[in-house]
Amino acid sequence: MFGTGDVRFFDRLAPLYDLVMPPADGTALAAGIDRAERPICRLLDVGGGSGRAAAALTGPERTVVDASVGMLRRARTARGLSAVAGDAGALPVGDAAVDAVVIVDAFHHLPDQTATIREAARVLAPGGVLVVREFDPTHPLGRVLVAGEHAVGMGSRFLSPDDLATDLTAAGFESSVVDRGFGYTVVGVRNAAE
Ligand SMILES: C[S@@+](CC[C@H](N)C(=O)[O-])C[C@H]1O[C@@H](n2cnc3c(N)ncnc32)[C@H](O)[C@@H]1O
Repeated sequence: MFGTGDVRFFDRLAPLYDLVMPPADGTALAAGIDRAERPICRLLDVGGGSGRAAAALTGPERTVVDASVGMLRRARTARGLSAVAGDAGALPVGDAAVDAVVIVDAFHHLPDQTATIREAARVLAPGGVLVVREFDPTHPLGRVLVAGEHAVGMGSRFLSPDDLATDLTAAGFESSVVDRGFGYTVVGVRNAAE
């Protein structure tokens, strides 16, 4: 259904993904989620794959949305998470339906990043928070990662933390860079007036 570009790669990788990936940084994610200006009861893990990031969080009701059926199967069977097939650029979720959206190590794989940010703003309730964990293409290790992903044919498009924060601000979020480095965290709080 959504099986184009990088998604095909993740469908093939799904059985091995959790064997080769370290656990997600739950502390960094929680620090981002803490910026919300409302209680966090419902959380959407967009491009959530096998549920690695959702599994690193406790508390809210967590739903994984991903375009890879193979990755979603892992989220359901290996982690017992609620998992829904969908495109990040057209989320299968109602307006103001969730309190937090997290996108972990996935934003650079998403074919329409502008639509993804717009959709996050749509599905978040006022005061809700978008937390993006990404890799900085201007960091020395980031340059290696960019070259590696392109070498294996991925269509990855990486943004620096400041460029991502600028894009979130343009979409009406109160944005901030929470931490910097090879991996970084940018947060956007959904403006109550939007
Ligand atoms: C590197 S994995 C990250 C998965 C998970 N967030 C994690 O931290 O382990 C990138 C994920 O983005 C998903 N993805 C790629 N394009 C997508 C799209 N258009 N909509 C939703 N998910 C997409 C892939 O299927 C894959 O599961």
